[in-house]
Amino acid sequence: MTRLLATALSLTLACALWPSGSATLAAEGEALEAAAEFRSIANKEERSAALFVEAGRVLTHARCINCHPAGDEPLQGELGSRHEPPVRRGRSGLGVAGMECKTCHQKENFDPGRVPGAPAWHLAPRKMAWEGLSLPEICEQLKDPARNGNRTVADIVEHMAEDALVGWAWTPGAGREPAPGDQETFGGLIAAWAKTGAVCPK
Ligand code: HEC
Ligand code: HEC
Repeated sequence: MTRLLATALSLTLACALWPSGSATLAAEGEALEAAAEFRSIANKEERSAALFVEAGRVLTHARCINCHPAGDEPLQGELGSRHEPPVRRGRSGLGVAGMECKTCHQKENFDPGRVPGAPAWHLAPRKMAWEGLSLPEICEQLKDPARNGNRTVADIVEHMAEDALVGWAWTPGAGREPAPGDQETFGGLIAAWAKTGAVCPK
């Protein structure tokens, strides 16, 4: 009982401190190492795997995982909570009749309502789910045409660097933590990973 009360109190405190708290979060340790920082690793395979591990800080971030869930519903927030209101992916990830994603998710974030937005907002197909996978598993899946939408490694590099839903992760709207670094640095890591043989970490 006392512990419950303490938890409730610290939660209230955390909420009250939220704006300054998140600013501190963004300032500390959120930088993403650029591909050039990895030149000193002489062994090409080791370098490739190390580049992927750094890129993995983005891939496993809530901004990506929430839209690449294992189930039929998107996730939300920093801890991958259940999407409120409850929605289903539907046949093409666009939602179901009457509850389509685009009913609420517009082309841009709508900060007054905390609703994130980007063009063609929809859920990644089930076979592209990353939720619950380890980083090496995500890596293998990314390279597997049967599970990546029939893409080559070059297509994956392009998608990571150019796609608007990927890019949204760095401008996620009010009250949401952006993915580490920026899309350009992330795209550079993925390109360097591909160039060094797209080796997956163990
Ligand atoms: C708003 C939802 C949404 C967000 C946020 C999102 N994705 Fe996706 N992602 C999708 C959808 C939908 C597809 C399927 C696109 C297709 O195949 O046409 C996809 C496919 C992909 C693919 C290609 C297929 C695969 O899984 O190999 C990659 C790579 C990818 N996303 C990376 C990311 C990364 C990295 C982030 C975070 C920085 C991210 N996504 C965030 C919806 C999202
Ligand atoms: C009835 C309105 C509504 C519908 C329909 C809807 N959403 Fe949402 N969604 C929201 C709101 C509101 C939030 C923000 C909640 C918050 O953070 O307070 C949200 C948040 C999200 C997030 C969390 C982003 C993050 O990283 O925190 C994802 C992912 C998402 N929605 C995907 C979808 C997908 C995919 C669909 C369609 C299958 C969909 N939503 C349908 C209202 C809706």
